[in-house]
Amino acid sequence: MASRLRWVIASFVVFALAAGWAGSDQARAKDRQPEPGAPLHTILEVETTARLLAILLDSGRNVINENQGLSDDRGKSAPRLTPEAFERQLLDVFYSRSGIDLRDLEAARIPAGAKKLLKELVLVSKEMVAEAHPETNRPGGGLNELIPAIFGARVATRFTERTHVRLKQTALTPRNPLNVPDAVERTALEAFADPSYPREKVISEVTAKSGSLRLMFPLYTTRKCLDCHGDPQGELDRTGYPREGLTLGQNAGAISVMIPIRP
Ligand code: HEC
Repeated sequence: MASRLRWVIASFVVFALAAGWAGSDQARAKDRQPEPGAPLHTILEVETTARLLAILLDSGRNVINENQGLSDDRGKSAPRLTPEAFERQLLDVFYSRSGIDLRDLEAARIPAGAKKLLKELVLVSKEMVAEAHPETNRPGGGLNELIPAIFGARVATRFTERTHVRLKQTALTPRNPLNVPDAVERTALEAFADPSYPREKVISEVTAKSGSLRLMFPLYTTRKCLDCHGDPQGELDRTGYPREGLTLGQNAGAISVMIPIRP
């Protein structure tokens, strides 16, 4: 299954050269070390960028998830998650997962294009926390807190508006019809759903036909996710959806990243 979605490096290089997108020697597949400060020239740089964006979006979802008690509305006097506190936690979580310190982005050995996009994604994530109006967290209202999926969807929408990069959350049987997987996403989700699938192993592909790099980043449940997505299966959670009966550490879906490789 996963092998069908592996790199098509050779055809990409030909395509990229033909499209004039990366018409330099750097587009060679063997060029595996991205030059710091260089634009997104190689397939590996685009893949790195997609993976880091997925980790950053997921880090934000996890900070929201861990702050559930803070971002809800149980008492008017309860402390709220401020955008500044959110950003601190976001940068810490991202650093622990990627080894990249976004507080010192200049020094990071990642492509210049990735730096710009990561910076923008931090900005958009922070804006969403600042703009969170509890009563509008869910279509139809009634949910007095910011939850990971709604945060993720809002961040993804605004980020896609501002950049050329599409971000999406998806699952095999999504609660929100907007999150229904397309064919590429479904194949990857089916691979992730296999309990023997290696943890956190992304699936990516580049094809001349799609004109983009597609990357799927698997998501796993933590204890707090199970309040809504765990047992008892079928019973409504506090957002009004039936629980999926997921267990701790199980795959819960994926973040899908699409970076166009045409100019
Ligand atoms: C407070 C309840 C709640 C918690 C906690 C929660 N979710 Fe969700 N999740 C939802 C709701 C509600 C949706 C649908 C949101 C929408 O309408 O777009 C959703 C959607 C999703 C989706 C998108 C696919 C879909 O079903 O539409 C994924 C993936 C997901 N959740 C994973 C997780 C993970 C992983 C965690 C823990 C890190 C988590 N959720 C925590 C309620 C929750």
